[in-house]
Amino acid sequence: MTAPRALAEPVVHIDDERFKVTEWRFATDAETGWHVHGHDYVIVPLTDGTLGLEEPGGVQRNASLTQGVPYSRRTGVSHNVINAGGAPLSFLEVEVVDDHIAHHRRDTLVRFMAAWNARDVDALMACMAADCAFHSSAGAEAQGTRYIGRDAVRASYTAMFDTFPQAAWTADSHHVAGETGISEWRFIGTDKAGRQVDVQGCDIFRFDGDLIALKDSYRKNRS
Ligand code: NI
Repeated sequence: MTAPRALAEPVVHIDDERFKVTEWRFATDAETGWHVHGHDYVIVPLTDGTLGLEEPGGVQRNASLTQGVPYSRRTGVSHNVINAGGAPLSFLEVEVVDDHIAHHRRDTLVRFMAAWNARDVDALMACMAADCAFHSSAGAEAQGTRYIGRDAVRASYTAMFDTFPQAAWTADSHHVAGETGISEWRFIGTDKAGRQVDVQGCDIFRFDGDLIALKDSYRKNRS
């Protein structure tokens, strides 16, 4: 039996909402253990060295590190990394972690759409930030009609359900880039007078953390 390898030592230098920077220090023959990368990342070798890589499917290969020469990899890489050279080695791993925020924000948009289809005003407001606003697609102002603050927003959402006893938001898709979110949808509803509405539209969102600070609505003007 061979002795288990020592583990490489991670030293976290930066861990904020946008980056995680970890220095990995490997004694000779140390390993990271198997792991799956959850983010895109850049490796900056701090030393020359030789990595032994164990990869899915029993693949084993070596890769050379050159001090100061970086390389990038995408999320999803799965491997065990071993110091296969004859001397200690180290590198910086720079992970782009702000996709976490984007994922959480996108989850909020998916929950928000589900709440519209469930006609659940409490669930809608649970997606809205403490300081929030809604700019509707129609109104006298250039911005439509502006509802500022939770009470006004809640009242406008409630009024929407009153206006449309039947309503469905279909064919939805959601995207987040930085501070901006977009939800596309096709609204199919019947208002209290029995008038049918079938129109595509979108919301442009601004966020406060994971929650919606502004819902800015647009829809096609059918004629
Ligand atoms: Ni790795």
